[in-house]
Amino acid sequence: MKTSLSIVILAAGAGTRMKSDTPKVLHTLCGKAMLSLILQQALELSDDIHIVLYHQAQKIEDMLRGEFGALLDSTLHLHTQDVEHFPGTGGALRGIESKHNRVLVLNGDMPLVRFSSLKALCARTESIVMSLLWLQNPDGYGRVLLDDKDCAQTQSAPKVLKIIEQKDATPQELEIQSVNAGVYVFDKEILARFIPRLSNANAQKEYYLTDVIALARDEGVAIGGVFVNESEYMGVNDKIHLSLAQEVLLGRLREQAMANGVKMDMPHTIYIESDVVFEGECVLENGVRICGKSLVRDSHIKAHSVIESSVVVNSDIGPMAHLRPNSYITDTHIGNFVELKSAKLEGVKAGHLSYLGDCEIGEGSNIGAGVITCNYDGKTKHKTIIGQNVFVGSDCQLVAPVRLESHTLIAAGSTITHNVPSGALAIARGKQHNKLGFFEKFFGKAKQSN
Ligand code: UD1
Ligand code: CA
Repeated sequence: MKTSLSIVILAAGAGTRMKSDTPKVLHTLCGKAMLSLILQQALELSDDIHIVLYHQAQKIEDMLRGEFGALLDSTLHLHTQDVEHFPGTGGALRGIESKHNRVLVLNGDMPLVRFSSLKALCARTESIVMSLLWLQNPDGYGRVLLDDKDCAQTQSAPKVLKIIEQKDATPQELEIQSVNAGVYVFDKEILARFIPRLSNANAQKEYYLTDVIALARDEGVAIGGVFVNESEYMGVNDKIHLSLAQEVLLGRLREQAMANGVKMDMPHTIYIESDVVFEGECVLENGVRICGKSLVRDSHIKAHSVIESSVVVNSDIGPMAHLRPNSYITDTHIGNFVELKSAKLEGVKAGHLSYLGDCEIGEGSNIGAGVITCNYDGKTKHKTIIGQNVFVGSDCQLVAPVRLESHTLIAAGSTITHNVPSGALAIARGKQHNKLGFFEKFFGKAKQSN
């Protein structure tokens, strides 16, 4: 299968409906660009993949170089569409030389499609195979005219006559509920024959790939229509679609995690990204957000905690804790309102209201409420190193760079600016003076009787 199919992904469009400076295909679902998601699937099927670019091509190319750089020019080929002369999805296919005789064409804005269902389309043998959706609300899609209206309802082998783009459709045609999902398989020879014959005499003055269907039909070419599922084949044109598509992807990621043993309270409130890995037995409470390349193993993440690109092993976190990138937590308890950043904590308790940034804290250490690592001097970030069995009392500021050796005590309310040697108690706070009788002197007797 992998060697007999070429794939073209269309990603040159302006994506104006996104109302964004970011190219449409770079908008992300669960942390991954739409184009990256669809390309991952394409790579399961083909060793000859062509991506057509134009609008903001450089940004898209940068993403591709970053994520798929090793494949460029061998498996992956980038093309620039001549949008000035040949705008439209038909124009996008001009001049593309595929290696294989069968060509799968995918719109770049279909982030949910999976290679397993694409395989089913590719297994068909007609000269043209196209994907159809049957939608309650067909708004935005090209309507597909079938020669037998009943076959659409029963979803049996539909005979496709032509595709009418929404902007060109009559009010009657707009009622049609069978629509073009935007995935096609063509014989290479069909594209060579019909792409040059497309016209732009339509509402958008574009060369529509979809017009190949009617042209080929008129010349007796066999066209196979296949009904597919919206949960895989929906197109994303605007940010409403983007959020709906992300919901679908989130549903898949949550189910996959739960199937692997993660317990979720109110799963619909939990956000996880594609690169997050769960191992062992984990519990995620409601409202948890875990992003980036994070690993969570045998841990309990309590309500409304956020974890970004961090490792959490055999620990409990939150509620309402925030692990910023590059945190590494093992056998540790992190309580509410604790923020970590580039912090390595092994066997530590930090129960309440702390900022622990650019630090290492060793086994058996206790971080009291309100402890702050003062890691930034306005110019540079500095490290705080805390050894084993260090007791840091509440409301201490640790002014970095600073080192608290193992087996030390830091008195509550201290501002620590110097290293603390092993075995010491450090106290760095103003002395308390009790001025007896001061209240009455200040307010007088009347106030005292109130
Ligand atoms: C397209 C189909 C429509 C189908 C829908 C499915 C056409 C003419 N219409 O409409 O029948 O129901 O997809 O989602 O094909 N692109 C280019 N070059 C261009 C224009 C677009 O590469 O000149 C790319 C876009 O980047 C995008 C894809 O083609 O990835 C589809 O373009 P889009 O403008 O979203 O088409 P739709 O209006 O959704
Ligand atoms: Ca689209």
